[in-house]
Amino acid sequence: MNSFDYTGKTALITGASSGIGRDFARQLANRGVSLILIARSEKKLQALATELVKTHGVSIAIIVQDLVEPDAISNITERLEKLRRYPDILINCAGFATYGSFEKLSIDRQRDEINVNCLAPVELTHAILPGMLKKGSGVIINVASTAALQPDPYMAIYGATKAFLLSFSSALWAEYRSQGIRILALCPGATDTAFFDVVNAEEASVGKRMPADKVVTLALRAVDANRSYLITGCGNWLLGQLHRFVTRKRLLLIVEKILRPRSP
Ligand SMILES: NC(=O)c1ccc[n+]([C@@H]2O[C@H](COP(=O)([O-])OP(=O)(O)OC[C@H]3O[C@@H](n4cnc5c(N)ncnc54)[C@H](OP(=O)(O)O)[C@@H]3O)[C@@H](O)[C@H]2O)c1
Repeated sequence: MNSFDYTGKTALITGASSGIGRDFARQLANRGVSLILIARSEKKLQALATELVKTHGVSIAIIVQDLVEPDAISNITERLEKLRRYPDILINCAGFATYGSFEKLSIDRQRDEINVNCLAPVELTHAILPGMLKKGSGVIINVASTAALQPDPYMAIYGATKAFLLSFSSALWAEYRSQGIRILALCPGATDTAFFDVVNAEEASVGKRMPADKVVTLALRAVDANRSYLITGCGNWLLGQLHRFVTRKRLLLIVEKILRPRSP
């Protein structure tokens, strides 16, 4: 499999205002890719756009959009039509987690989590993939998590959304691989971003945190190899193999112990 050719390409990145999404923007700008950056934080997006135009001279559009809103994806596709931008690369990176006993977490917040982590990537992929198929080339990276590799007590909805994304992406990888489309489910372990400030629980962070730029470098390497999924880091990969050696019940009990809230 040849490396992906980034020349003259346009990438749409959700969750571009921070963390892993921001590092995707930086590394793709460094390869000369034009960018469409999406998140809610307008100031952060503008600051990033200014930085990248200055350092790499690439063309950048920003779309300020809350992906929870029911008309989020139609707003985005309308903007793309107006801008006459048709992405060759789609990076579904926006996401967040809730942590705690399921019944105590707000159902509205958990519904938003499902919408941002699952529904938005599905709808964006459905809107953008046909354009890629017409060109016979494209890349879709769905940012899942090692949380996708087993059920996650106290992060039940988060783990389920990421398992959904891993399954969805892997199925599409097999469906479209012969049509020039590369689809990667990226499964980072703990990564050094603002993610855990949003979760607001140290227990949710398992293992040493990898810098976000390293996660992105590994992901772009996996795209070059047309891999269907990537678990970042050897330790995370080993943890992901645990299910091969213990029963599902034992696995659940181990994970419950690791993730159990320590504060009263
Ligand atoms: N950090 C980790 O340890 C880790 C590990 C595995 C997987 N991940 C996954 O990596 C992805 C990126 O997270 P990160 O670590 O880079 O965390 P982060 O720094 O908190 O970034 C999250 C991004 O998602 C955007 N976002 C959140 N809610 C949104 C909404 N309703 N509408 C639009 N955008 C929204 C945020 O932008 P605004 O707030 O500006 O809207 C931000 O750009 C997530 O999908 C996360 O699940 C993270």
